[in-house]
Amino acid sequence: MYPSPRFRLILIRFLSLIGILGFSLFLVSISMDVQVGEAANQLKKDVYSVWALPPEDVTDRVKKLMVGLRSEFGGPEFEPHVTVVGAISLTEDEARDKLKKACEGLKVYNATVEKVATGTFFYQCVFLLLHPTKEVMETGAHCWAHFGFSSPTPYMPHLSILYADLTEEEKKRAQEKANALDETIKSLKFPITRLALYKTDTEDKTLKSWEKVSEVRLQDN
Ligand SMILES: *[C@@H]1O[C@H](CO)[C@@H](O)[C@H](O)[C@H]1NC(C)=O
Repeated sequence: MYPSPRFRLILIRFLSLIGILGFSLFLVSISMDVQVGEAANQLKKDVYSVWALPPEDVTDRVKKLMVGLRSEFGGPEFEPHVTVVGAISLTEDEARDKLKKACEGLKVYNATVEKVATGTFFYQCVFLLLHPTKEVMETGAHCWAHFGFSSPTPYMPHLSILYADLTEEEKKRAQEKANALDETIKSLKFPITRLALYKTDTEDKTLKSWEKVSEVRLQDN
């Protein structure tokens, strides 16, 4: 026996209603997923650093020197920079906001290299030590305060040219090589016109995850 046409109509309507309800639930669940995802992203903390960037000609010159050192001592590639605020855990919104606010009170400043120096860990292997002039140190203090950053070691302005784990003897050779590759690098002077926010997961020694998030141009004098 077939169901009556009237019953069939009711059945079809009922099934379409279930279909529409199911589809709506599906849409609601997708939009909730997206919202939860967005909220999680806004709360997600990453490690950020504030870098002072040299002008392009200086960047090119320093990069050549870095390539020369890496060819003998290895180590990852990175953009030439002077760290102003070291690795600090923040959400992206917080980090962008703090950089913007910190830069409002800053002007273009000069940096002068004191010498090629060596340090005691991977991220301070061989670097150009900068003169701790008033403007360099004040920029550091100003940004530390804005980011709520503190460190047991005082601000040591420098521009790294090699990240690596080397023996004392190798470090000495790398230092000599840097001076030989670019004889006047030890008295380089350059203006800092931009501060940038970089994502810098210090656990990632390949630095493949390191990326620029934002950049702010400083006011001219
Ligand atoms: C930076 O040094 C240059 C050249 O020595 C000088 O002309 C300029 O005024 C200095 N800039 C600042 C911001 O002190």
